[in-house]
Amino acid sequence: MTVHHPDDAEVDVVAGRVVAELDAYARANPLMSAVSDRAELAGALRAQRAQLWVLGQGVPRAHLYGAVLGASSAATAYTGPDGSSGTTEDLAQLLEVAAPSWRASGARSHHVWVPDDSPGLSAWRQLGYEEFEARGLRALDGLTAPRRRDVVVHVEVNVEVALDFEDVIDATHGVEVARGRARRGRRRELARLLDEPDTAQYLASSPEGTLAQCICFPSAPTRGTPARTLHLSAVAVAAEARRRGVGRHLIESVLAGALAQGYSHAEVVWRTANARAGAFWAACGFEVTTVRLRRNL
Ligand SMILES: CC(C)(COP(=O)(O)OP(=O)(O)OC[C@H]1O[C@@H](n2cnc3c(N)ncnc32)[C@H](O)[C@@H]1OP(=O)(O)O)[C@@H](O)C(=O)NCCC(=O)NCCS
Repeated sequence: MTVHHPDDAEVDVVAGRVVAELDAYARANPLMSAVSDRAELAGALRAQRAQLWVLGQGVPRAHLYGAVLGASSAATAYTGPDGSSGTTEDLAQLLEVAAPSWRASGARSHHVWVPDDSPGLSAWRQLGYEEFEARGLRALDGLTAPRRRDVVVHVEVNVEVALDFEDVIDATHGVEVARGRARRGRRRELARLLDEPDTAQYLASSPEGTLAQCICFPSAPTRGTPARTLHLSAVAVAAEARRRGVGRHLIESVLAGALAQGYSHAEVVWRTANARAGAFWAACGFEVTTVRLRRNL
């Protein structure tokens, strides 16, 4: 069976299948929104045909899309939840052609997002891909701001505090704390992020000082994500303040504020190796919707 870049008719077949599969997943998972616009998806795929491969002529039985992003020496090929279909064997055949092309563009690894508990998840696992991150979503209805006398949650732009909490998260992930030039670069990135009009840095403090942080911004529109979703990032609680409900209090305050601002959902991404984070987000009402897997190329 041939692997090739699709013609217009084949793109339409792929778009139709992706919409049907994601819609079926959305019906079974109320947190995922259905994909309504097949024509828009077909248009997007057609425009990026050079990064799309299909298996089988006419009515392709499987597809794989991968965008190579990042600096050429450390680039990564990314496949979204709508970027692949087919059995393990189909995907293996598609990879035989796609992977050398990604490598030639400088990619050293391939990352794939797939719906949790989907056939795609087991197919990629069988191909040697390892789970790396989980994305959790929750609806915001019925929330009210929690009350607590000893901890105050407020919005403040404080790049140095954000930098310190990045260190906390790096330490959790076993990543060496950024110093020198890398730290200056990160400070600039954080300053840029916090300067965005839609970004808010929430801090939880007590008379002891700053205890916790959450940085939020509207989620980028992605297929399957509800329209008004707030993305939570850089969530961390100072080591000495953990397991006292500070993290939960901060997140519940942020979510109640988001609901009041018209958001309907919130999402967050965490490393699957960070079991504490997984337990925390489940306790805060988030359910895993998609999982990111990766493999070196
Ligand atoms: C994950 C983290 C934010 C949790 O903050 P916290 O203030 O300690 O959490 P809370 O005390 O509010 O806990 C709320 C619930 O989360 C779960 N939870 C939190 N920490 C847990 C742990 N170490 N083990 C198991 N469950 C845990 C529990 O269900 C807990 O409820 P309970 O105490 O009634 O059992 C904190 O451990 C942290 O900052 N870790 C390092 C940075 C990090 O991993 N950030 C997440 C990035 S996505």
